[in-house]
Parts: sequence; C-alpha cells; structure tokens
Amino acid sequence: MVPWDGRGALGGGGGFPHRMIMEIYEQPKALEDTMVKEDDEVRRVAEIIDQRRCELIYITGSGTSYHAGLAGGYALSTLTGMITSTIPASEFESWIPPSIPRRSLLLAISQSGESSDILEAAKAASGRGIMVVALTNTPGSPLAEVSDHVLLTHAGREYAVAATKTYTAQLSILYMLSLELARLTGLAPWSVEELRASLSSTPRLAREALMMNDKPIEGLAYRFRQSNYFFLLGSGPNYATALEGALKLKEACNIYAEGFAAREFLHGPIQLISGGTPSIFIAAGEDVKRLMRLALSIKGFGAPLIPVSDRPEGLSAVSQEVVRVPGGLPGIFSPIIFIIPLQLFAYYGSKARGLDPDRPEKLRKVVR
Ligand code: AGP
Repeated sequence: MVPWDGRGALGGGGGFPHRMIMEIYEQPKALEDTMVKEDDEVRRVAEIIDQRRCELIYITGSGTSYHAGLAGGYALSTLTGMITSTIPASEFESWIPPSIPRRSLLLAISQSGESSDILEAAKAASGRGIMVVALTNTPGSPLAEVSDHVLLTHAGREYAVAATKTYTAQLSILYMLSLELARLTGLAPWSVEELRASLSSTPRLAREALMMNDKPIEGLAYRFRQSNYFFLLGSGPNYATALEGALKLKEACNIYAEGFAAREFLHGPIQLISGGTPSIFIAAGEDVKRLMRLALSIKGFGAPLIPVSDRPEGLSAVSQEVVRVPGGLPGIFSPIIFIIPLQLFAYYGSKARGLDPDRPEKLRKVVR
C-alpha cells in the first residue's frame, strides 16, 4: 500500500517508491486541473469547429494517445453524430485519401508533442489544407507549433515511461470537447448538462477507484505474478480500455498481454484460452448482461477470469473475485475510471516480478 493523503498529488515524490505509482495517484488532481484550466479553450475550439461545419473528424496518436483517440472518437460520434476515424499516427498518411474534404479536421493527440509519427501525421494533414487541433501535455512542443489550435492537458510533467495520468487527462479533454460540440449542434441524445455534471464527478470517482482498489489489486497482482499471458476484453468505449490495459502490462511487467473488442475474441483468439491465460473481463453497466455468455465460455475452458466492473453483483456466476470500480458514470465516460485498476495491476505486477516499473529497458518516453 502506498502512502497517500487521499487528495491527489503529494509533490516531490511524496513517499511514493516509483514515479509510475505517484503519477497514477496524481490522476484526480490532473483531471480537476485539466477540466478547470482548459474549459474556456475547449469552448473556443469547439465554436471554431462548429462554425466550419466540420463533418468528419480524423483522430490520430500513437500507443496510449491512440487509445485515448479511440475512446474519444466513440464519445464524439455518439454525442455529436459526427463521423470520426481514428488512425494510428504512423499509418495516418497512408490511410487518408490524397485530397481530404475541406470540412474535416484532425485531432492530433500526443502527451509529449514530440513523437516523430504524430509530427508527420500533423504535417500531412496541414499539407492537404486540413485544420489541425493538437491535444498535448506540452505547451510549446513541436506538435503545438505545427498545429492551428492547441488544447492542453494539465497533468504536470509525466516521467514514467508508461503513460497514466496523461491518458485520463486526454480523455477528459476529448469528453469536454464532445459535450461542447453536442451543445452547439444540439444533436446530443441525452441532456448535455447532466453529462457535464457526470464528467465533473470524475476526479472524485478516480479517488474512490484508487482507494477501493489499491490493496486488493496489490494482492491480485502478487497472485498472478507467474502468469505471462493475459487477455483483456472490453466493449464499446472500453475496447480502448482493454488495449490500454494490455499496453500497460507489456510495458511495466514485460509480459504478453493483448486487448480485444470483447466478442471479437470468439472469432479465433479463444482458441488460445487455457488455465494459463487469465482473462481480464471489463464490463461496464449493461455489458455485464450482454457479455455474460462470453464470460461463461471463457470460464468453461478453464481460464481464470478477472472481471472489472461497476456492477459486481451481476458477475457472481463467473467469479467470486470482482475488481470493483465506482458506479454512477455513464458508460460513455467510463474509460476514465475503468483504466485505473488496470494501471494499478500493471504497477504492482511489475513490482511482484522484481522489475523497475519506471524503467522498461527497451523503451523510451518519446519515440523519435
Ligand atoms: C505509453 O505508455 C507509451 N509509453 C507509448 O505508447 C506512448 O503513449 C506513445 O509513444 C505516444 O507518445 P506521445 O503521446 O508522447 O506521442
């Protein structure tokens, strides 16, 4: 269990043994700061997008930033009816047509604002006359320089190679932008004001997710310290959570972990399931019922199932041991909270394997 005052960042290391866990615990503050400090700029950029009558939003990023783009694209299209296309930054130029319709936009996401792939993607879009909006944690970065507009996450500098606080802060900006566009276009299927209130509860829910999970996840990670293969299954916006949770396990624990859109698992990968392949089953809200048959099949093949859910009571048929996340958030925003136990699992898994979670030997913070 790490020392924590229950409020968020402790500053100067605050007694945390590693940067990664300190940054995981800084998330409530990063969310709060980002939502307060960037509100005006999000509104301004949303107005520009609305005035240009943009119909297509391309979204790009690499690694964790790409995963944020997937979850953000889900929110943008659900709340605004706009068409979104999320493409990995390294593939962006080859996947877009030579002439993009002018009423499209590129949202370029990068924590550092320095990764070479995102810079190439932003330049390719600019070269085709497309407006580029950067979403970065680094003001004045090369990405900010080549973009038409910049939205900032206020997560503070992130030192650990495995991105954590910048991911949830990126999600918060993408959700704020979705809500503002939904308000301007009047196309939101639900009340924008109620959704805004839900979003503003995420710092509190993130705190709760940390407090209720720290100790149990430390124990769980220790129990699974000898497992070298994990499957993570998630649906809707939590497909992104499955991909991001798997990336954290690869980076911090040096093991093979793969994320899937839940039912895609049935189309081949389930062939690999066995007692040696624990499966992390991410089920938010109604997904618990919708995906129950899949969970039962996996359990039937003898794989240990680790459900992560805000509806633990619905999962007693598949596991006695459910990782709980606080409820009360609409599914669309749930990735912010659902990723937190998975970040903790990767951190404690790294420690349990005797690794240094801050220094994956083959990785660098910025890929150039
Ligand atoms: C995240 O844990 C990774 N270290 C990595 O995937 C990272 O997200 C990626 O390289 C993109 O970095 P950027 O956001 O700084 O562009």
